[in-house]
Amino acid sequence: MRSLLRIVAATLAGSIFLCGNLCACSFVQAKPQKVKTVYIGVSIYRKDDMFISTMCTDLEAEVKKVEQKNHVKIVLNIMDSQSSQSQQNDQVDGFLSKHYDAVCVNMVDRTSAGTIVEKARKSGVPLIFFNREPVEQDLQNWDKAFYVGADAAQSGTMQGKLLVNAYRKSPKSIDKNGDGKIQYVMLEGEHGHQDSLLRTEYSVKAVTEAGIPTDKLANGTANWQRAQATAKMKQWIQKFGTRIEVVFCNNDDMALGAIDALQDSGTVRKDWPVVLGVDGTKPGLQAVGSGTMLGSAYNDAKKQAQAVVALSLHPSEVPAGFELQRSHYIYVPYSYITKENYKDYLNR
Ligand code: BGC
Ligand code: CA
Repeated sequence: MRSLLRIVAATLAGSIFLCGNLCACSFVQAKPQKVKTVYIGVSIYRKDDMFISTMCTDLEAEVKKVEQKNHVKIVLNIMDSQSSQSQQNDQVDGFLSKHYDAVCVNMVDRTSAGTIVEKARKSGVPLIFFNREPVEQDLQNWDKAFYVGADAAQSGTMQGKLLVNAYRKSPKSIDKNGDGKIQYVMLEGEHGHQDSLLRTEYSVKAVTEAGIPTDKLANGTANWQRAQATAKMKQWIQKFGTRIEVVFCNNDDMALGAIDALQDSGTVRKDWPVVLGVDGTKPGLQAVGSGTMLGSAYNDAKKQAQAVVALSLHPSEVPAGFELQRSHYIYVPYSYITKENYKDYLNR
């Protein structure tokens, strides 16, 4: 790509030079301006992840916006790794060998970023990781390597605080058996994902720090997926019945899976536990609106997409409206989603 651009630039410079010597300059002015084409390669961990597919749509929309505003053509090539790290490595190799201008990676295994960073560095290509955070040491190895995501601990804390607020308003609606403690189950995302670990920890922490004792009945992973969450929740309903007072879910899709299980179980609505999510996906927002989910923390895919595209095009500039931390990190803040404000998020 670079060499092609160089040839185009040289040809243009040449024709300006010739023109200056041989002909009237109006000829050059009349020529339509050549539009620059930028190639951005994106490799995602799996395309059927609800949040990631939202992010892909947002990346495409952002690219269109930038194209119109900046008179540039952007080719955005999004590839699905289907949960295979070796497939992802091949995709990145492909982008680099075709001289893409920037490469964006949603790691399958976030601990394996080292080799990708090294290859991008050697090729001099900006590398933007998103959503699945590599270890810091890997990022530090290349000036033009970045991570765009959100502060997972913050979303956990928000989830806990949503529960604390509801409890303060009406303790009996949460603590149904009236023992002064909150009996909960925890539906976790993939093991080893920064968001699973931190949301799990900080949600409960916010509740206990507010002085409300908790009692964990069960926890387990559903790998971010709705169907897996339904299966897990069905087992827990069988085992604990209406003793479950709260279902903490590391994302909205698993919260929706838990709601599916509650619906299937035939439990009367007033005996349902409170269900909490993270993300604010469209179906998640609808569940908050209908009251089957108490609330969620908004994971701003659109803002994250903006930062990813901006860094791909201008890796040496901090994107306007964002803060660059430790030279490599952009964390987009979460915000609260409740029944009162969910509509504001529906049209974003
Ligand atoms: C989102 C999840 C998503 C995961 C994928 C998280 O930040 O909250 O919904 O499945 O990222 O990596
Ligand atoms: Ca209780």
